Order: sequence, then C-alpha cells, then structure tokens
Amino acid sequence: MTALNPRIVTPFDMGALKLKNRMALAPMTRVSASESGNATPAMARYYERFARGGFGLVITEGIYTDRQYAQGYLNQPGITDSEQAQAWRAVVEAIHRHESAAIAQIMHAGALSQANRFVDQSAGPSAIRPKGEQMKFYHGAGAYRVPRAMSDEAIADAIEGFAQAAERAVEIAGFDGVEIHGANGYLLDQFMTDYSNQRDDRWGGDVRQRLSLTLEVIAAVKKVVGHLPVGVRISQGKVNDFEHTWAGGAVDAQAIFGSLSDAGVDFIHVTEHQAWQPAFIGNEASLVTLARRYAPDVALIANGGVQDAPTVERTLQAGADIIAVGKAALANPDLVQRLIEGRAPEPFEPSLLAPIAHIKDSELNQAQ
Ligand SMILES: Cc1cc2nc3c(=O)[nH]c(=O)nc-3n(C[C@H](O)[C@H](O)[C@H](O)COP(=O)(O)O)c2cc1C
Repeated sequence: MTALNPRIVTPFDMGALKLKNRMALAPMTRVSASESGNATPAMARYYERFARGGFGLVITEGIYTDRQYAQGYLNQPGITDSEQAQAWRAVVEAIHRHESAAIAQIMHAGALSQANRFVDQSAGPSAIRPKGEQMKFYHGAGAYRVPRAMSDEAIADAIEGFAQAAERAVEIAGFDGVEIHGANGYLLDQFMTDYSNQRDDRWGGDVRQRLSLTLEVIAAVKKVVGHLPVGVRISQGKVNDFEHTWAGGAVDAQAIFGSLSDAGVDFIHVTEHQAWQPAFIGNEASLVTLARRYAPDVALIANGGVQDAPTVERTLQAGADIIAVGKAALANPDLVQRLIEGRAPEPFEPSLLAPIAHIKDSELNQAQ
C-alpha cells in the first residue's frame, strides 16, 4: 500500500495567500443558485463540508461574469452585481470558519451557453456550431446553438465583465483569489482552440494569437485584484469534445504555459482525465510536467482522477504543488481526513448528479 505523501498536508504559500495544505476542491457547477443567480444558504452548507473535511483550498463552481453572453446554465450562480456578490459572502465565511481559503472561479460560457436570462443568443469567436450536445444534467437538450461571432466591442465587454466580476468577488464577497476559467471548452478555450476560432483579426491565428484573449483577461483582472492570487485553468479536453488534444503537442504547451507565466499569473490549474498521464502521443510528459517545465515559477494546481494515496503520489511526482479533486470529493467531502487517517474513500456514484446536477439534500444531511 502506498502511504500518503506527507508533503500534501504541509502548508503552501500562493503569493500572499497561505494555504494550510495542498489539497483543493476542484470547481464543480451544481446549478443550485436561485433563479436570479444568487448563491443560496444550501450552497454555503455544501461548500462548508469540504472545508470541514480538510481541504485547504475550495475553488467554487464557474460563476458567470456579466449580463450579456456569459451565463451558461439555468440556476448557475453569477457575480454580475453587488446583490449576487453579497450572496457569496455566506459561502466564503463558511469556508473561512475552517481555516480554508476560498477562490472564485469566474467563467464565460461563450458558445456553450445553454441558458441565459439576459440574452437569447450565444456568442463565441466564430459563428460555428459547437461539437457535441448540450448537457442534460444542466437542463440542456439537443445541439448547441450557432453562436454569433463576437465583435471587438463584445470582446471588450467580456474582458471588462471578467475584471468587474473579479473585483466584486474580492471586494464584496471576500474571496481570497480568483481563477479565470480558460479550460473545458468555454469562451476563453473557444478562442484558444484552432477549430472554434477561425478569426483572421488580432484574436485569431497561431496559438499565441488565439491565447491573446486569455492574456488580456488576465491583465485586466490583475489590474483590479492583483494583490491577491490570480490564476487560470487550462485543459485540452472540453465538456463538448472530451478527447481533444492540442495539435502542436508539447510545442503548443510551451507557447501556452510560457505565455501565461509571462503574463504574471500566480497559479496555473491544469486538468486532464488523469493528471499524471502523458499528455501527447510519443511524449512521456504529462501536462502537469509540461506546465512545471515552461512556467517554473508559477504555483501549479493539478486535477484529474486523483482519489487516493497512490494517485496523490503520482500527481506530486509529475510536478504539482496543489492537487484539486472533483468527483472523489463529492463522494468524500472528508477526503483529506480520510487520506490522513488511512481510511478507504467511498466510491463516487454518478447517480449523485442525475438527472440534474443540483445539490441533493442527501449530501447536505450526510453525517461527517
Ligand atoms: C458535476 C461537475 C461539475 C463541474 N463543473 C466545473 C466547473 O464549473 N468548472 C470547471 O473548471 N470544471 C468543472 N468540472 C470539472 C472538474 O473540476 C474536474 O476537472 C473533473 O471532475 C475531473 O476531476 P476529478 O477526476 O477529480 O473529478 C466539473 C465536474 C463535475 C463532475
């Protein structure tokens, strides 16, 4: 049996933010906000369980940033005004009660928007229908809509939306930092991806040019909340294109992680199906290892498939500073305590997220 690597429960300084250990809750959308996008008391109880269970860092679900095209899902929480930001205060306070840190994930759904109460269209880099089908467990059905191609003005509004959302998250809600959602097929990833970004203006072109929107968002967010950690989440796979890999392989990884490092992010959060596995055919390195190599001075959060001491070990070996856990945490909000005590984790049951992914009473009432 692999013993738990003791490093995982040692403190980690992410800039000014001191984390008590290196275990984080991964961001997970649970479509449990009020219809108007406010975080609820049930959400505060839900998030508190992970802090109580030992996670030193809790990253929220993707929170929509503006009242234009950002919202993705019915009952997704937002942070587009002071009322929505105030509603997050109780969540942050509940996490802080257990000496855990709270980071807000801010996201723009772009072409993957399934529901938006502000506009009845979706928007993305190019007017191309996204691959795949809408997610049923987020109230979706059938093909995605064809997005409208964003104008320069719409892009400027989206950047401004991220910046204002970040400011509200820190100044009003009291979050300890912000994660910009650049992964999983949402707006920033749509711009970064060759097939969804067919633009021939300054926002399209080679991988560096396709990354320019993410870099502009980072700059705008750092300008308002740069005294606290600002990070970005990056992936190859997408919710609507699970097995996507970067066409340029490790060369793309060098361009992407190098540019993010140059942009001055405090952390990079990479997610793969299994964080420690090789990222590209013909190359042994995982995405975690490549991020470590090309952004050596940036704190690195790794996510994907971690559930026990051996998978913690492999992910640390790959180069992670912090490990984020999703499904295994849903099954075991006390995962950190369990790992420390050597107790076996419960298996994750997909039925927890069916038919709709909202927070279930059974989760809130579970003894811990
Ligand atoms: C129900 C659910 C909702 C998710 N929502 C988000 C999200 O809002 N933002 C995000 O970046 N990733 C989201 N993810 C992806 C997870 O953060 C994570 O990358 C994925 O579950 C793989 O990690 P795991 O093997 O530890 O579960 C979600 C995953 C699940 C299962």
